[in-house]
Amino acid sequence: MTTVSAPEFWETLYADHRDGWEMGGPHPSLVHLVETTPPPRGRVAVPGCGRGHDARFLARHGYETVGFDFARAAVEEARQLARRDGVAVTFEQRDLFTLPAEYTQAFDGVWEYTCFCAIDTRRRTEYVRVMAAILKPGGWFWACFFPIRTSGGGPPFPVAKPEVRRRLAGAFRIEREGPPSRPVAARAGQEWMVQAVKRAPA
Ligand SMILES: C[S@@+](CC[C@H](N)C(=O)[O-])C[C@H]1O[C@@H](n2cnc3c(N)ncnc32)[C@H](O)[C@@H]1O
Repeated sequence: MTTVSAPEFWETLYADHRDGWEMGGPHPSLVHLVETTPPPRGRVAVPGCGRGHDARFLARHGYETVGFDFARAAVEEARQLARRDGVAVTFEQRDLFTLPAEYTQAFDGVWEYTCFCAIDTRRRTEYVRVMAAILKPGGWFWACFFPIRTSGGGPPFPVAKPEVRRRLAGAFRIEREGPPSRPVAARAGQEWMVQAVKRAPA
């Protein structure tokens, strides 16, 4: 049986059009933030980027963006959409857990949406470690966590605010958190925006 940790699991969802997460565009709060209080420009990673709407948006706004996804269908479509829109953005088909091998301290920022909730909950500590590893000290980690709820299966696996704080505490300093400024209507009340910075080594 395939598990969420295998690309085949996600390939099947894409092939069967069971991609209920698809929004057809960037997250409205990412758009609002970048247009009003943008994070510093630089090289940005988007883990679990899917069809790359957020990555294309960031690239269009001056960020040197790399979207990572281990599902071939996602990466192929992301590249097609970038070509269609004439956006210079890179997509790499790759398991995000392998990133530190090649991308240690390679990024100034990470934007994450619906990737944390897509991974096996037993790998969340490892996930945070990977995000910290690929960021430069002082690099920004902006995330919109979903679904904020206390129970249920997944993916999307439930996320709790105290858990987010606890998991980020070691490697990151949370500078701001709260409901997203522009929530996705169908997910209202279940999203939680976090803007954090990677701590410098002691
Ligand atoms: C719920 S979808 C969200 C896609 C995109 N963030 C969006 O909002 O449209 C989760 C994505 O994460 C990818 N993914 C899950 N685990 C991954 C891993 N270990 N490495 C790379 N991609 C992964 C899946 O293939 C899928 O495209």
